[in-house]
Amino acid sequence: MIKLLFFGDIFGKPGRQVLYDQLPALKAEFAPDFIIINGENLADGRGLTEKTLKPLFNCGVDIVTGGNHLWDRHESWDYIRANPAIVKPLNFPAEAPGNPVCVLRKGELEISVLNLCGQIYMPPCDSPFTALERWFEANPGHEGRCVLVDLHAESTSEKRALAWFADGHVSALLGTHTHIQTADAEILPQGTAYITDVGMTGSHDSVIGVKKEIILQKFRHGLPLRYEASQLGLQVNAVYLELDPATGTALRIEPLRRRLQDLETEGE
Ligand SMILES: [Fe+2]
Ligand SMILES: [Fe+2]
Repeated sequence: MIKLLFFGDIFGKPGRQVLYDQLPALKAEFAPDFIIINGENLADGRGLTEKTLKPLFNCGVDIVTGGNHLWDRHESWDYIRANPAIVKPLNFPAEAPGNPVCVLRKGELEISVLNLCGQIYMPPCDSPFTALERWFEANPGHEGRCVLVDLHAESTSEKRALAWFADGHVSALLGTHTHIQTADAEILPQGTAYITDVGMTGSHDSVIGVKKEIILQKFRHGLPLRYEASQLGLQVNAVYLELDPATGTALRIEPLRRRLQDLETEGE
């Protein structure tokens, strides 16, 4: 059995700090073989940098997926390009820095990780359906291997449709980008674990990670204001997965939504 933890969008310094602080306890609780995070918001909500990612790699993160914000920091493009553990959306042009798939082996265990962006209410990109179909065609036998897809998209209908499209082809299709965890985790009939959105690791006493006063001003008065990461109401949002390495099918998906104070009082 392969056990893994996948953390949804890690937002800014508060999100990185929560993850860094809580990973030792979560590793002890779940004993994951692989740890995967969505890192598109690591650096103050916009993109990622070597400085923001290195401490997370050092404390056990194996693979980082992206999304529409992956390339926000121009100074990090070479770092992204050079790091095989950073996965970019498959349905972006080949010229966009990053690896379109990360295959990681640990002893007998192997996982392939992909990232796709949605098209609805998102920056322009190619069809995630076509990109995935082409990947399936180019990778015969993928159904029997462990493959995880981070589907970074806004629309619940697009995510749900892609889930039916991918069922039986991949081990897990996990939604990110909305930063709000959905209550629909399940294993689909052909063995693919699915959740519409894993949710965000960071401040939830906020508007998707940003100080709520700033976003209220923006909505009420229409003024462009500089975003600042909120530090209130910190949570870890993730899913725990168990996969069968012999068949590539999912055996279990368990959403985790831990409030920081809950974690602090654990064991007392
Ligand atoms: Fe995000
Ligand atoms: Fe996003």
